[in-house]
Amino acid sequence: MISIEAENVKRFVDTGKIEKGMSEASDVLLSLMNREGAGSNMLGWLNLPDTPEDELDTIINAAKKIKDENDCLVVIGIGGSYLGARAAIEALPEEGSFPIVFAGNSLSPGYHDRLLSSLDGKRFAVCVISKSGTTTEPAIAFRLLRKRLIEQLGKEEASKKIIAITDAENGALKKMADSEGILSFAIPRDVGGRFSILSPVGLLPCAVAGIPIKEMIDGASSAIKQYTRGGEDNIMLRYALLRYILHNQGTAVEVLSTFHPELDLFCGWWKQLAGESEGKDGKGLFPASTVMTTDLHSLGQFLQDGSRNLLETFLVAERPRRDLTVPEDKENLDNLNYLAGRSLGEINRKAYEGTKAAHISGGIPVISLQTPSITPASIGELFIFFELSVAVTGRLLGVNPFNQPGVEEYKTRMFKLLGKPGI
Ligand code: PA5
Repeated sequence: MISIEAENVKRFVDTGKIEKGMSEASDVLLSLMNREGAGSNMLGWLNLPDTPEDELDTIINAAKKIKDENDCLVVIGIGGSYLGARAAIEALPEEGSFPIVFAGNSLSPGYHDRLLSSLDGKRFAVCVISKSGTTTEPAIAFRLLRKRLIEQLGKEEASKKIIAITDAENGALKKMADSEGILSFAIPRDVGGRFSILSPVGLLPCAVAGIPIKEMIDGASSAIKQYTRGGEDNIMLRYALLRYILHNQGTAVEVLSTFHPELDLFCGWWKQLAGESEGKDGKGLFPASTVMTTDLHSLGQFLQDGSRNLLETFLVAERPRRDLTVPEDKENLDNLNYLAGRSLGEINRKAYEGTKAAHISGGIPVISLQTPSITPASIGELFIFFELSVAVTGRLLGVNPFNQPGVEEYKTRMFKLLGKPGI
């Protein structure tokens, strides 16, 4: 279960405002749960933690086949079509041991050239994920990788190495899958990309990596029960509300800071979730992230002492899953014996506590979100916690958290420059 600590925020926000705001936030949550309000046709993600056991088994079986027959899996997708899976796989290195590589999330020729070279002599499968089935970046990567598979195996066998995850009916990818006999999984119509981690979009790559997806779903399911209750003790609502109030008081940036490098990509997933959901109509906190203690030697100065328009949210795991002890050294030339016998987990924890105290004294509002440890279930819980909080803050801001009209602007200009027919 996640816990929250935000005492210091009372220096910035009047308590009356928080108490009054909690009832507004509860109403917003209720409208989400009743599938009402802006974007109510895109609330299918609230049902994903109830995915029936047999659907999960189908995904697990497809994953097993991929692992049995290949040396690695290439996952093609961009934005919500890859960030969740990548976040979970990096967060759970103990579980995720089967090699997964990601493609189609940039147009970098160097990256894709190196990727193709790295596949030389390897048996690989391709999982291509695109809800619209028409996004340029994954479409180009898929063309390159499919060509490679066809050259190696011929068209028919190549199709057996491909899995498409896309809309149930529409889009170029669905058409190709149907005409070429490619196995496909459907992304529910009412689930947007950045809310799709608990659908086949995230579950299939996670299952291939080795993550026990049923445990992840169990964590998500408990989170739905825990964080969809109205009332004072709902910490998701409190967090969503504090973000909203601070935004209205002039806070411009929320920095999600973690002391666990394995959560770096989780922060990346959250940046897309918050950025695309809330950043519209001239509103929204700009989502940024840091990985400590690395970034204490990079962005630490700014966080301590720079522009005071920030909220810092620490994402903390109380217990590491593995730990190491600093060894004793008789000579003590490095003067480090005061740490001998102490665990890296404890030292990392003290670094977090010291940083939090320093940043509070530096005058920024700080919220801590703590999970007991990073496990498949707690990652499932965190996905739901942040999805709900972004949905609630977005609705409080008066924006539709489930569309992304701003993303089209670059596409139109790029297509014009590339001479795409019909643009
Ligand atoms: O959250 C979203 O909807 C977007 O980030 C999409 O996931 C991203 O643009 C990729 O779209 P598609 O899955 O249609 O290729």
